[in-house]
Amino acid sequence: SITSLTALEILDSRGWPTIKTTCTLADGTRASASIPSGRSTGAAEACELRDGDPARYRGKGCRQAVANVNTTLHEALRTTAFASQQELDQALIALDGSPNKQRLGANALLSVSIAFARAIAAQQKRPLHEYFSYLIREQAYQPTRFPRLTINLFSGGRHAGKQVAIQDVLIVPSAARSIDESLVMMNDIYHAAADRTFARYGMRLLTADEGGLAPPFEDSEAMLQAAVAAIESAGWQPGRDVHLALDIAASHFYRDGRYLLDDRRLSPLEMIDHLSDWCRRYPIVSLEDGLAEDDWQHWPLLQQALGEKILILGDDLLCTNPERIRRAIDSRACNGLLLKVNQIGTLSEAAAARSLAKAAGWQVTISVRSGETEDNWAADLAVGWAADQFKNGSITQSERLAKYNRLLEIEAQRPLPIVDWPLV
Ligand code: PGA
Ligand code: ZN
Repeated sequence: SITSLTALEILDSRGWPTIKTTCTLADGTRASASIPSGRSTGAAEACELRDGDPARYRGKGCRQAVANVNTTLHEALRTTAFASQQELDQALIALDGSPNKQRLGANALLSVSIAFARAIAAQQKRPLHEYFSYLIREQAYQPTRFPRLTINLFSGGRHAGKQVAIQDVLIVPSAARSIDESLVMMNDIYHAAADRTFARYGMRLLTADEGGLAPPFEDSEAMLQAAVAAIESAGWQPGRDVHLALDIAASHFYRDGRYLLDDRRLSPLEMIDHLSDWCRRYPIVSLEDGLAEDDWQHWPLLQQALGEKILILGDDLLCTNPERIRRAIDSRACNGLLLKVNQIGTLSEAAAARSLAKAAGWQVTISVRSGETEDNWAADLAVGWAADQFKNGSITQSERLAKYNRLLEIEAQRPLPIVDWPLV
C-alpha cells in the first residue's frame, strides 16, 4: 500500500511549471514521475490545473496541483492497499469527481498514477515496460516488439511561431530494422537537413519546441520539399527507405469553416483535395489531424479519400478520450489513435482508449508532448503497450533523448523486432 505521496513543482522543457510526484510504498520502495504539457492542445483534453496567479509564471504555476497531491490525495490514498493499477486509478477519478479532472487536476492525478506504476514495477523488480505490458495483456509481462519511430525534422505551426501553417514534418526510417538503425538514419537525415538549412537560410534555428529545425519556409509545402531533399542528400531513397509523416494540426488554423493554410483559405473539401495531392506527390504514410477537431462532418471524407493507403491519425480530434474514439469508430472518421496519456489523465483510461482503437483494427501511435521533462516513462509505455509508432520529437534536446536513450537501453537488453510499417 501507499504510505506517502509528495509532489514538487518543477520546470518542463519550455521552462514552464509542471509536476513531479514521488510515491512511497509500505516496504519503503519509492519512485517518481514527471508530467509533460502540450501547447497545441485539443479542446477536449482533461484539465491541466494551473494556479492562474499572473504574478507567478504568468498564471501557469502548479502549486495548487502540487498541494492537491500533498494533502487531498496523500490523505485519501495512504494506507489503502490497492490490488491493481485500475483500482488506484478508479480512486483517483472518484476523488476528483469532475468530468474533465478540473478539481484536482489531470496533471496531479496522472503524476500519482504513473509514480504508483513505477513504484509497483520497482517492488516487483521488473522494468517499467514489463509492468505496462502486464496492464494491457494481463499476465504477460514480456514485450514482443518495438514501435516504428516517427521523428520530428521540421516544425511549424504553434511549435515554431507559426512561420508556416502545418506543425510537424516527421521522418519515418522505414528501412531500419532496429531502434539503433533508426537513430543512425535519422542522424544522417537531420544533419543533411541542418546543412541545407544553413546554406539556404544562413541559420540552424534549433528553437522549435520539440527540437525540430524551423527556418522561415516560404510555405508549408516547402517543408515537404526540404524533407525529401534532405533524405536524398543523406543517401536514402524517399518512398523506399524513408517515408514522411505529417502532423497538420489543422484545428489551429481553422476559422469559421475555412482552413487558413498559409495564404490560402480552403473549404473542408478543398483541404481534403490539397492533402490528397500532397499524398500523391510526397512519400507520406501518416497524416495526423488533417482536419480540425470539431469538423466531424468531413473526417469520414478524408478517411475515404486516403485511409486505404495511409494512416489517418486523430490527435486533437480524439484527445485519447474513449467517448470520442467510439464516435470516430462509428462514423469511420479515421483509422489511427494518437495516444497521449495526459490528455485523459490516468493510465487505466489511456489503456481503455488503446484497446478500443485496437479492437476497431486501428493503429496506435504513442506520443509525448511538446513540453516534456527528463523523465523517460513514455519510452517504456511505447514498448509495453506495443505501440505501432512512437512520436517523440527531434533528436536534439535532452527531454527527447531521455526517451530515445531509454529505447536504446531496452533494445540492448532485449533485442526485439521493430514494427514493419509501412508495408514496403
Ligand atoms: P502538443 O503537440 O504537445 O503541443 O499538443 C503535439 C502534437 O500536436 O502532436
Ligand atoms: Zn498533433
